[in-house]
Amino acid sequence: MPDLLTDLRSVVGADHVLTDPADLAAYDTDWRGAYRGTPLAVVRPGSTAEVAAVVRLTHGAGVAVVPQGGNTGMSGGAVPSDDGSQVVVSLGRMRSVRETDAVGGTITVEAGCVLADVHAAAAEVDRLFPLSLGSEGSCTIGGNIATNAGGTAVLRYGMMRSQVLGLEVVLPDGRVWDGLRSLRKDNTGYDLTQLFIGAEGTLGIVTAAVLTLQPATPARATAWVALPSVTAAASLLPLLREYAAERLTTWELIARPALELVLHSAKETRAGLQDPLSSDAEWFGLIELAGPAGASVDDDLERALGAAVEAGLVLDAAVAGSPAQRAGLWSLRERISEAQESLGPTIKHDVSVPIASLDDLVTRLAAALEGAVPGIRPVIYGHVGDGNLHYNLSRPERLDGAAFMGRSDELSRIVHDLTVELGGSISAEHGLGSGKAAAAAAYKSEVEVSLMRAVKQALDPAGLMNPGKVLPLE
Ligand code: FAD
Ligand code: MLT
Ligand code: ZN
Repeated sequence: MPDLLTDLRSVVGADHVLTDPADLAAYDTDWRGAYRGTPLAVVRPGSTAEVAAVVRLTHGAGVAVVPQGGNTGMSGGAVPSDDGSQVVVSLGRMRSVRETDAVGGTITVEAGCVLADVHAAAAEVDRLFPLSLGSEGSCTIGGNIATNAGGTAVLRYGMMRSQVLGLEVVLPDGRVWDGLRSLRKDNTGYDLTQLFIGAEGTLGIVTAAVLTLQPATPARATAWVALPSVTAAASLLPLLREYAAERLTTWELIARPALELVLHSAKETRAGLQDPLSSDAEWFGLIELAGPAGASVDDDLERALGAAVEAGLVLDAAVAGSPAQRAGLWSLRERISEAQESLGPTIKHDVSVPIASLDDLVTRLAAALEGAVPGIRPVIYGHVGDGNLHYNLSRPERLDGAAFMGRSDELSRIVHDLTVELGGSISAEHGLGSGKAAAAAAYKSEVEVSLMRAVKQALDPAGLMNPGKVLPLE
């Protein structure tokens, strides 16, 4: 495609069209090395006009594009196919904060803004942008929108789709839809903004967004608790809400093997993390209450924990007494994902069920998976307040990584079948990408899949916008 590459260089500059394999390495594989592709090129536009010009050129040449942000996704959505036919469009240069409105409570940012930078920009005007992910130092707002990211504050603030008021999107044929509105009320037809959220770059490339800001929550109270069971973890949710109401921001579950992995890897890297409780419990939780300056979050947490111990829902608790201790408790939760990589290839699942069914899910899966692969190591953690568990599987010590991954379809089917039987979802927050597109289509009704295909066909009739993601190729 020499002509296309020449044209792309004339739009974004030769330095921003990468074709050398050494330069492509940062873009052709996801962060875990679980998905690998071979792009025709990586293009790094610096403005919405450049993104639109790039897409007009690729569309004209019949070449597919793959939008990419921070490349921290879990489902392979940002990785191109391996046949050298697709152009990766990286939004990494588009990082401006266009406007901050502390009175209206909005911030307008470009899609390549890193989430942590949006947190910092909100803090500058004494506001909070509440999306909270372990990847916040690398993931981008465009990726957060495209995956409808969740994280550890969904319980209070909702997922990414609840934080977005307006979008600017480059459509699959290169036209620009300017929907950058900051209105809280707008019933003038189909909600196109929401349509692009969670579409994983299959309907267009998000170039900018208007996001809502929340009041800052400098008062924080954080506890690490030992739990008798998953049932107790579920029952704790209404109790915590009774004492903390909307100040309950985080309610996360961590199984013992996940905690041990983090402590082990912290030892190896001398990260200095400690087990906050010397409990032999199998399940742990991280609770955080947050409020404005002067809010009684410490008292609320203490009263809630007292009631939880009395009700037999909590065995023991450690409350953070300083910002450093709070950061230590958070690290125990947020480092699990990376720590699990040390066990070799992981089969990841991101499931949600009604919270009352969590114990059933965990108990029945343990038996079924052990029956299939004796010695298999489930590493379970997640956003229990949202009914969302990361039910990840690591190989038994005796089985090598390749043999274990060879069983992944069969093992994922066990996890997904039971999840669906319990009324759940096989992708609660990570999206489908290429990894789960076929599985999701198989669980959905024919009506639902055909509606999704109709939306895709209407917006991207040529099928050139991140093909094969979300919906499997026909
Ligand atoms: P990418 O990985 O680059 O892309 C993800 C998808 O979005 C792809 O389909 C891509 O094509 C599309 N896309 C990217 N940018 C655009 C754009 N501008 N326009 C259109 N489409 C676009 N996720 C959670 O939901 N909750 C968590 O708690 C969480 N924790 C994490 C912790 C760690 C340590 C890591 C590594 C990841 C975690 N993630 C979590 C997953 C990941 O960070 C999120 O999915 C994030 O939203 C992806 O953002 P990104 O910029 O890296 O997107
Ligand atoms: C998390 O909650 O830590 C993330 O979603 C990442 C993961 O699944 O490991
Ligand atoms: Zn998660």
